[in-house]
This record gives sequence, C-alpha cells and structure tokens, in this order.
Amino acid sequence: MLIALGADPELRTHFRIAVTNGLTEDELAEVIYHASGYAGSPAPSRPALRSARLRPDSEPLRGQAMRPVAGRPYDETQGVSMSLEGKVAVVTGGGRGIGEAIAAVLGAQGAAVAVWDLDGEGAEKTVAGIREAGGTAIAVAGDAADAAAVAAAAARTRAELGPVSILVNNAGITAYEPFTTITEESWDRLIGVNLRGPFLVTRELVPDMLATGWGRIVNISSSSAQTGAPAMAHYAASKGGVIGLTKALAMEYADKGITVNNVPPGFIDTPLIREGPIDVEAAAATMPMKRAGRPEDIAYAVAYLVSEEAGYVTGQTLSANGGRYLV
Ligand SMILES: NC(=O)c1ccc[n+]([C@@H]2O[C@H](COP(=O)([O-])OP(=O)(O)OC[C@H]3O[C@@H](n4cnc5c(N)ncnc54)[C@H](O)[C@@H]3O)[C@@H](O)[C@H]2O)c1
Repeated sequence: MLIALGADPELRTHFRIAVTNGLTEDELAEVIYHASGYAGSPAPSRPALRSARLRPDSEPLRGQAMRPVAGRPYDETQGVSMSLEGKVAVVTGGGRGIGEAIAAVLGAQGAAVAVWDLDGEGAEKTVAGIREAGGTAIAVAGDAADAAAVAAAAARTRAELGPVSILVNNAGITAYEPFTTITEESWDRLIGVNLRGPFLVTRELVPDMLATGWGRIVNISSSSAQTGAPAMAHYAASKGGVIGLTKALAMEYADKGITVNNVPPGFIDTPLIREGPIDVEAAAATMPMKRAGRPEDIAYAVAYLVSEEAGYVTGQTLSANGGRYLV
C-alpha cells in the first residue's frame, strides 16, 4: 500500500489532506482502504474519499489542509478556474486603455460586463470585442464623477444585467503641471474624477453586494501615489486618496463578504500615456523589465482580485508594475 501511495501523486495528496484534516482513525482507515485500491482493483470510490476529505467538522485543522470555501468546495480535480460565471461586473473607463483590457478579461472569465465610459463609442467598441469572444456586455455612456449620471448608469446596468457584484473603479485622468501653476479648477477636476468618482460609484453599487453578501471592489490607483511624482501633485494626491478609500472600505466590509483592494499601475502603454509628454520608448528602457507594461498586465491582476479564490485578500495593494517600485 505504501508503494501505491508513493507511486501515485494524486493519492499521496489525498492521504496528506486526510491527515491534515484531522480525520478519525476510522475515517483514515477508509481512506487507506480506498488507497489500497490503487494498487490493483477495485478502483477507489472518489465520492467517498471526497466526503471524508471535506468534512466541515474535522477540527482541529492542522497544517495546510484544503478546506471548503462557503458554497464552493475546492476541488483539485477541477483546478483553479477563477471563473466569474454568474457575476455582473462594472468597469468604469472601460472604453480604452487599461479599462478596456480589464473589461475584456473579466468578460472572458464569464462575467457579464457593463462598460461605463464618458466616451460612448469607446465603450461600444470594448463591448463588441467581448461579444465577439462569446461574452456578455453592455455599453453605458456617462460621467463616473457625476452622481446623477452614476445613478442612471447603475439603474440601466441592473435592469439589463442584474445586481452588480464586481466593481472596478478604473476611470481616471491626469495632468502634468508644476505645483505652483496648479489652479483650483485643475485640482478639483483631478480630485473630482479620480477620487470623488470612485466614492460616488462605490456608494451607488455597494448595496447590491451587501444584499447578496458577496462583492469584489478593485480601485485602480497609481504608483505615483507610492513613489511621488513631480508636476503631478494633484494626480498623486487623488490616487493616494484612492488607496486610503480602499483600506477604509476593506475594514468596513471585511465581515460582509466584500473585499476591497487596489492595483497601482506603474508605467502602462495606453492612450493616456501616449497623449502626455513622456517619451514612452525611452521611459520603458529605464524600467527593470526594460519594457512598459501592457494593459493586460493590470487586467490579470484585477482578474485575480475579483475571483472567488481571492476571497481572503482585502485592503491590499497589488503593485503590478514590472518591478518599478517594490513595496
Ligand atoms: N497608463 C498608466 O501608465 C497608468 C499609470 C498609473 C495609473 N493609471 C490609471 O489607470 C486608469 C486607466 O488609465 P489609462 O492609461 O487606461 O487611461 P486612458 O485615458 O487611456 O483611459 C481612460 C478611460 O477612462 C475614461 N474616463 C475618463 N474620465 C471619465 C469619467 N469621468 N467617467 C467615465 N469615464 C471616464 C476615458 O474616456 C477613457 O476611456 C486611470 O485611473 C489612470 O489614472 C494609469
């Protein structure tokens, strides 16, 4: 039997799980009985093995046992799917750049995606891409920093897709202005879109998540809030505020099934960057990885944070930045 255990990695895993789940002697004997089946016949009964393995009352828990997650037991025969089937996601600023990639990846993972953007045509383009790939999406044109527009966008999203369970606050703007030249209008504009926007959209949508007891919120912040950035005081301040908002909401909703995290992009090649004063190729050469990030680099980090599997991760900063800044 031990030879069988040694020869079959899957069986070894089952045996380890059985032990670390603190099974009784009888249960362990059952596992060993089934294990012996691997050496010849009859074949072991996997359902019996599974029911022994995932006993909810198998305390005390010792070691690195795999435990059932509420409503969705981990099943190593299925692997880790990070599936978003049945979820409704809102991505603000999803009409181009990073938001477009986030919407596409969440759509590919099975979420029905509402692409909110000031630029209705951009949002339609993103939606067309998701539908072509077999996903479900709608475009919602509107200003994510205006309370009435946010309420209207939310009402349409709920009516067409259902209650929202995933929110990615991605819409953002920037400006490069030496500090003493920053006008009050410019300050208010950046704080308005980058910080007041996530406040308004989250306040509108979080009741949907509270109602079901499940939610994922990811705020797109910026490495400029981590490192500082000359001529970007308003931008860095707004994104620093986003990180504070993330942590406060993470604490407020930690026991409500809602996680709140932020992803600060480093230097990602998007229209926003191309329209600014930065020489993208020269700047990319100074990066540790010798390249600018791609929008998908951020989208995959977001896909992890909004997954079922990331349910124990909250209030965190996931710096997908190619090594530009090490926390
Ligand atoms: N590109 C980078 O290197 C970088 C670095 C750090 C942080 N970020 C952040 O990532 C996010 C996305 O950046 P990007 O580079 O993809 O920008 P982008 O300008 O290419 O795309 C932003 C999208 O947001 C939309 N938008 C802007 N204001 C809006 C509003 N009030 N309501 C609704 N939609 C609005 C725009 O129409 C656009 O489609 C932003 O929050 C940005 O600050 C980007």
